[in-house]
Amino acid sequence: MAVGKAARQQPDPCSFVIFGVTGDLAHRLVVPALYNLAASDLLPDRFCLVGIARKGMTSDRLRDSLMKGLRQFATRAVDDAIAQRLLACVTCIEADPKEPESFDALNKQLDELEAARGTGGNRLFYLATPPNAFLPISRELGRTGMLAENGAWRRLVVEKPFGTDLASAKALNSELLKLVEEHQIYRIDHYLGKETVQNILVLRFANGMFEPIWNRNHIDHIQITVDEKLGVGHRGSFYDATGALRDMVPNHLFQLLSLVTMEPPVKFDAHSVRSEKAEVLSAIQTQTEQEALQNSVRGQYRGGRIGDTEIDDYRKTPDVAPGSTTETYAALKLTIDNWRWAGVPFYLRTGKALGVKRTEIAIKFKQAPFAMFRDTPVDRLSQNYLIISTEPTEGIALQFNTKVPGPNINIDGVEMKFRYKDYFKAEPSTGYETLIYDCMIGDNILFQRADSVEAGWKAVQPFLDAWKKAGGKGLKVYEPGSEGPEEANDLLERDGRSWRKLG
Ligand code: BG6
Repeated sequence: MAVGKAARQQPDPCSFVIFGVTGDLAHRLVVPALYNLAASDLLPDRFCLVGIARKGMTSDRLRDSLMKGLRQFATRAVDDAIAQRLLACVTCIEADPKEPESFDALNKQLDELEAARGTGGNRLFYLATPPNAFLPISRELGRTGMLAENGAWRRLVVEKPFGTDLASAKALNSELLKLVEEHQIYRIDHYLGKETVQNILVLRFANGMFEPIWNRNHIDHIQITVDEKLGVGHRGSFYDATGALRDMVPNHLFQLLSLVTMEPPVKFDAHSVRSEKAEVLSAIQTQTEQEALQNSVRGQYRGGRIGDTEIDDYRKTPDVAPGSTTETYAALKLTIDNWRWAGVPFYLRTGKALGVKRTEIAIKFKQAPFAMFRDTPVDRLSQNYLIISTEPTEGIALQFNTKVPGPNINIDGVEMKFRYKDYFKAEPSTGYETLIYDCMIGDNILFQRADSVEAGWKAVQPFLDAWKKAGGKGLKVYEPGSEGPEEANDLLERDGRSWRKLG
């Protein structure tokens, strides 16, 4: 994320090779992000954009399709000259891991292209494919020597989901690490591309006032909420095999959790930051299946409306099994077994088809003693929360008690707010720019290391196992537009706490 660098450096000349270039991710996010980088003059001068497709696609057709994608998904007005310059770098090459000779041919074509464009052999392979293609493609890249760094760098960008449980994530790591070194793998979690998520480190470690109270002595508990209004839509087949827990928790929610709970890294570099993140994730207490059932709630939405939008019953979504027990909502209680966080509960929740799109970390500080106000009209003190949010707006808010003007002592809770968009003028972005740029300059601070990924899966594994065994038993239903199943409230109420309200 280029902290400490005097100015944004231009990446090395390279080939940016996208597997799955005809898919949604490449059109919606990757290429629009490359366009934004081009518009900010942050692409290398010598650059090849190579799209790997199955048979039947040509470079011209791919350019047309990417241009259509840009017009639809660009986050800013498309300047034709910049778009044309970017698309002029596009070459489409056919390759399919089921036909190994196509990878030998790909290697040759890349050599020729690179010689013509002077990109010096640096290659970034972006796997924007379904996860079952990650290994077959990587193995072919390895077999043909395309991952070997002989005087030029070779990098592999892997999208989520990285595995579907602890065993599969370990297996995937171990297979990939037979082909490349850890420093060559960039495991993307798009939450780390969000400005406010990166800002958590700055908030905590570039200010003197938060860190002294950032511990069990002052913090009562932390809530992490990622609520979405949209239902599962056209992703039924992926989602029904995945569910809310796998889709969101070991990756996105744990990114937020680890940044908020990690120890201060010694240096602002990839090794130090990623080590501290992995360390705190590995300190999440592993629960028994019994504990996991007690410390979780899962739900599934039924049909209904959110405002003017009709939401189908989850079980009637195309490609979802009619009797599916896959959760579209998950709430968990976790604890972190270390000196800083002993005894502090972490409540995490995420779901689809809820009333509001909201992503926030709410840090609740311990209540001030009420004693002094006992003989005044004040009957209660509001709660002190520090709220770090990326949705609906990116920013930070601090809630505290203040005196209501007037002769009597009356107290009310008020909020002090910082919103990114009020302070900084930034071009709207896809959230992928920083991540893609960092891959090109070889900075993996914002990417997940193998140990973090495995620590994340290890913490959620008991929930996956317990829920699988329980099947439909314990699966709660909720209405679209609600806050999720009622039972999620019990998770906190039995500890004398409550969720922050939606909206
Ligand atoms: C993706 C999940 O990784 O993140 C989606 O697969 C989810 O199901 C999305 O909707 C949420 O991302 P964001 O940035 O909109 O919070």
